[in-house]
Amino acid sequence: MTADLILTHFNQVFCPRDVGHPLFGKAMATATILEDGYIALKDGKILAVGQGEPDAALVGPETELRSYEGKVATPGLIDCHTHLVYGGSREHEFAKKLAGVSYLDILAQGGGILSTVRATRASDFATLYDKSKRLLDYMLQHGVTTVEAKSGYGLDWETEHRQLEVVKKLNQDHEIDLVSTFMAAHAIPEEYKGRSQAYLDEIIKDMLPRVKAENLAEFCDIFCEKGVFTAEESRYLLSKAKELGYKLRIHADEIASIGGVDVAAELEATSAEHLMMITDEGIEKLAKAKVIGNLLPATTFSLMEDTYAPARKMLDAGMAITLTTDSNPGSCPTANLQFAMQLGCFMMRLTPIEVLNAVTINAAYSVDRASTIGSFTRGKQADITIFDAPNLDYLFYFFATNLVTHVYKHGRLVLGQQ
Ligand code: NIG
Ligand code: FE
Repeated sequence: MTADLILTHFNQVFCPRDVGHPLFGKAMATATILEDGYIALKDGKILAVGQGEPDAALVGPETELRSYEGKVATPGLIDCHTHLVYGGSREHEFAKKLAGVSYLDILAQGGGILSTVRATRASDFATLYDKSKRLLDYMLQHGVTTVEAKSGYGLDWETEHRQLEVVKKLNQDHEIDLVSTFMAAHAIPEEYKGRSQAYLDEIIKDMLPRVKAENLAEFCDIFCEKGVFTAEESRYLLSKAKELGYKLRIHADEIASIGGVDVAAELEATSAEHLMMITDEGIEKLAKAKVIGNLLPATTFSLMEDTYAPARKMLDAGMAITLTTDSNPGSCPTANLQFAMQLGCFMMRLTPIEVLNAVTINAAYSVDRASTIGSFTRGKQADITIFDAPNLDYLFYFFATNLVTHVYKHGRLVLGQQ
């Protein structure tokens, strides 16, 4: 079969291995790297990859060839944990943060997530849409082609629903593909203060079935944290969500280790998020249950904490991990996945290959899209990120600079000049 388009002469092409499940532990250190690589596309999908001059069988009279000498390519980057849709911003809390007031104290004073909830409730659809679109534009410029997006700044039906509708519309309109997560259990709304059980009952009775009926989210998530939702409450909500057919995620062990990891393992969640404070026992449990650890080093950085999630220990124990931005207006206001990837090397001592697997094939499994994205396997979507770098190590060595020059989505150039 001949290709429509062949991208040729990359200095290196990073080809993750898709073995039918996420890469666990030591397997995360493995990949195929093609020197002088090419990627052949047909109908917006991957047809073949190879080295040097493209195989003659791929080249027909209609085939277009584009040379990318001096650059490297990876599968389109996947940001598998974001709080994309929100009103307002929180730079007014920055001075408090610098003065050492903790994240949970700001929340307990009615700020933090709750301040964004007020701003989100006050924002109409168009305002939320425009703001989120702008964030997605930034993400695309930084090489991201698929994004998971959570609700959770409404904490009431009307606003949660509006957030989910924004995600749905942006998924139709924007080049980036979105995966939707329902997270009404992101905080306890002010009107339910001291009555978390009653709020959870409202979510279970009124919201979960409606979101499902309208097909507005695939995943359900909860913030299991000291002063927010307990492990027991998380188990209660997520088991109901599972019964309704949601796939599960859980924010666990971010600031305090209070049992969220056990819930993730018991309910076979797809992923557990943050895990900065996870114990050795918790790591064993997640490894055994094959729960993916979605790690968010840019959040640790932005919270100015010293303890990063113990990624190396996780790999030693055989866990699969991803790296993601956690993009949100409070604990991590950024749209740059490359920065989180670099922190994965600098602060977690991951290798470039481990990081690249984390944000491609493993992130694809984390959003349950591995049959279509995350590697250059024949037949997958031609989502390709191209960097101005002589080799893959350079992506980490030359840090805090956006090196992305071109992005292809479904085989179409959506960023950069031909
Ligand atoms: O993943 N930890 C809870 N939720 C977000 C922060 C949301 C916010 O501060 O607005 C997080 O870090
Ligand atoms: Fe988060």
